[in-house]
Amino acid sequence: KQIITIAGGGSTYTPGIIQAVLNNADRLPLSEIRLYDIDEQRNDDMYLIIQYMLKKEGFKDVVISSTEDPEKAFTGSDFIFSQIRVGGMKMREKDEKIPLNHGLVGQETCGLGGFAYGMRSMNGLLEIVGYVQEYAPNAWILNYTNPESIVSEAVRRQYPKAKMINACDMTISIEETIAVNYGYDRKNWIPTYYGLNHFGWYTSIYDKELKRDVMPEIIEKLTTQEMEVADFNAGDKTWQEAFSMMSVITKNFPQNIPNNYLEYYLYPDMVVEHADKDYTRANMVMEGREKNTKEMAEKIRDGATEDILNFNFGEHGQYIVDMATSLLNDERRRFMLIVPNQGAIPNLRADAVVEVPAYVGATGVEPISLREPISDFHKGLMEAQVAAEKLLVDAYFEGSYQKALQAFTLNQTVPNARVAKNILDEMIEANKEYWPKL
Ligand code: G6P
Ligand code: MN
Repeated sequence: KQIITIAGGGSTYTPGIIQAVLNNADRLPLSEIRLYDIDEQRNDDMYLIIQYMLKKEGFKDVVISSTEDPEKAFTGSDFIFSQIRVGGMKMREKDEKIPLNHGLVGQETCGLGGFAYGMRSMNGLLEIVGYVQEYAPNAWILNYTNPESIVSEAVRRQYPKAKMINACDMTISIEETIAVNYGYDRKNWIPTYYGLNHFGWYTSIYDKELKRDVMPEIIEKLTTQEMEVADFNAGDKTWQEAFSMMSVITKNFPQNIPNNYLEYYLYPDMVVEHADKDYTRANMVMEGREKNTKEMAEKIRDGATEDILNFNFGEHGQYIVDMATSLLNDERRRFMLIVPNQGAIPNLRADAVVEVPAYVGATGVEPISLREPISDFHKGLMEAQVAAEKLLVDAYFEGSYQKALQAFTLNQTVPNARVAKNILDEMIEANKEYWPKL
């Protein structure tokens, strides 16, 4: 039976993950859940909620604890699910609002907000990896701490042998959206995709039931039929318009399906135009699921007996559980994972951290190499982004202001070095407690 530690236990994502763990108890037998967080209040709230869930679902034998002590949290643990958010939603709000106030994209993983968050996040995640090396050297870390390319690069440098899998649920969510809209079952899909985290393209989607690559027909549907569920932050476009814009095509048929995060890099001006610089995603999350979770914990404290859990679970938890069971039972499932390139994308630098399909089994991650070089357009976009991220990670390890400024300048949401410097200086001030000294 497995011991699972959730780093960032107080996160509102915890109940969804635990629910998925419980739903898969036959494949992932559980003896103990430990919630580790530096925010005692939030961790205690979550403890109550998870305890309530375990009781409700009839898991009497599963031990649950919450702690701020890393030794207690990690010693003897089998799986560490890492979802820390250094600085919490309060700092996310600054990541989003500072760039917006300078007329640039304000988003938690893309643009300069993502870089500011990256500088905070490297510190937090390297600390967790260090604890795991010390207290649970055989454990697997399943990491979905953002911004993932940056933290993965930092871990690759400091702990190249860490037993860690870096994964993002965004590709699953894109596939789910497409499948639901157009009547497919994504469980039958074997997709091929390449890129960086939140920055990539599908090249084929083989359907095991239909026995064909369904990407061409999906592209046809994307260009002719509306989708019911689809987000586009660069304004009120129809999905067909958005899709053509994201593919950067006019008349020719697109060859790929882009990750929707590319809108931040391809249409930053439109995204800014449609953003509200006084009310960003952080505000929505704080007033939405954060408040909701707190209220649930309060009801449990007040001795609520009726069913008070009202969560909206997505696919996020299931994805993490599938990775854990794949490792544990050698299930060899296929995921999009964030790994050192090492030739997977043949014409991109080997030391880039890329997102490509990979099989997961008892021995860890086995990435799949593309057989063809990628186009100059995608390669050029990716190379600039990789260089910017590398410079940021250099800045972190070397304490270099100059490299941070170069990273900020090279970020593709940034039009000039002057605004890069203004935002960097403001970010240094706002992140005093979290960033290394530059
Ligand atoms: C997706 C992305 C994550 C991101 C999250 C934000 O799951 O893959 O990288 O952190 O969305 O969600 P939120 O609801 O907090 O804006
Ligand atoms: Mn993600």
